[in-house]
Amino acid sequence: MLRVMTERPRLAELMACPACGGRLTGPGCLSCRLDFPTVGGIPWMMPEPRIALIEWRGRLHYLLTHYATEAARQRAALEQEPVSGLTRRRLEHGAAALDDQAKRIRELMTPLGLAARNEAHAVHVALGTELPLNQGLSSYYTNLHRDWCWGEEENAAGLAAVMGAMPDGLRPARVLVLGAGAARLAWDLHCAVQPGLTVALDFNPLFLLAARRILDGKMLELYEFPIAPRTIADHAVLRRLQAPTSTPAGLELMLADASSPPFQPGCFDIVLTPWFIDVAGEPVARLLQRINRLLVPGGLWINHGSLAFADGAPGDALSLEELLDALPAAGFARPEAREAQLPYLSSPASRHARLETVITFGARKEQDIEAPVPGRAVPDWLRQSERRCRRCRNSVRNHCQPASTPSCSR
Ligand SMILES: C[S@@+](CC[C@H](N)C(=O)[O-])C[C@H]1O[C@@H](n2cnc3c(N)ncnc32)[C@H](O)[C@@H]1O
Repeated sequence: MLRVMTERPRLAELMACPACGGRLTGPGCLSCRLDFPTVGGIPWMMPEPRIALIEWRGRLHYLLTHYATEAARQRAALEQEPVSGLTRRRLEHGAAALDDQAKRIRELMTPLGLAARNEAHAVHVALGTELPLNQGLSSYYTNLHRDWCWGEEENAAGLAAVMGAMPDGLRPARVLVLGAGAARLAWDLHCAVQPGLTVALDFNPLFLLAARRILDGKMLELYEFPIAPRTIADHAVLRRLQAPTSTPAGLELMLADASSPPFQPGCFDIVLTPWFIDVAGEPVARLLQRINRLLVPGGLWINHGSLAFADGAPGDALSLEELLDALPAAGFARPEAREAQLPYLSSPASRHARLETVITFGARKEQDIEAPVPGRAVPDWLRQSERRCRRCRNSVRNHCQPASTPSCSR
């Protein structure tokens, strides 16, 4: 049975080390000798926090370089051949907006720090990056504007679908949203259901730092660059991002990798995966093990989104039938899935929008299953690196911790 909320659960009591799964002592794990920093007010719970910080700094540097290069290209186009007055207006507007966006992103991301010269992204890739390379800082960037500016209709439809997957009268105490992005659905659900605790988890710091500002009621303005702008002005639109009302207590943002969730087993009444399981970077079977493990007995996994497995092995690109069929073996009751055609990223400034047949279901946990292997699956050629120290990346030495939680004393 799902628990009924009695008092506000404290997040710190639910946490575990994302590297070894052990209990935390204050902000760190004694056995892994890792400290987990707070970055811009967000707990940074990556299994290799320092390396993840360096990687995201590298990606920030990459994004800022991209803005500068693109602005320079637009200005160069003004010089190359005679351009009409309207084209001049578009190029000047675009270049100025890119410069301004770079300043704004740099300011938003200040808590991360910028990449030092010796933190070249390629070096981290060569050392064995822990973050998937297809996840840049600006992946899914339009979702931020949908969430907090123009997406009322889409946001409401998403919330309604998720609420429709919950049994009537359910009052969960703890909710976890995996791949929460800029946290709007987590916010809407938190406001609607009022659990004691909602954790919105994602590993993209741009989304979380933006969400932190918005949830704190502070001003955030960033540009949207629509795919198919309707007008010259729509090529770069400065949007004001804000929450519709103040944020109720108990909504926590957390930077973590869903493949190494920093929680003790059996903590959550609901785990919600919105538009996530097909981009999670690991096979669904493994993800189901993790979700099962995170839920209390009788807890509910709510999945929402379309199934568009672009990456990964062909055998893992599940259809809905395969996914539902896999649930009993993963310890879940077989749910009834609802499908609805919903607009997706339909920006008022763009002629481009998607219409998705979105699947939503709530699957109840019926039994515990085997604990999943911690961390992201790595290819064979990198497997050796699992035996490298988590912190210094050298081979595990005699003075290092056991290989299951490799680290050394550096
Ligand atoms: C398609 S977006 C959906 C975002 C949000 N749920 C929404 O509906 O707007 C997928 C999200 O999952 C996040 N993500 C992908 N893999 C992740 C992982 N292993 N751990 C945490 N977040 C992840 C991405 O950063 C991104 O925010």
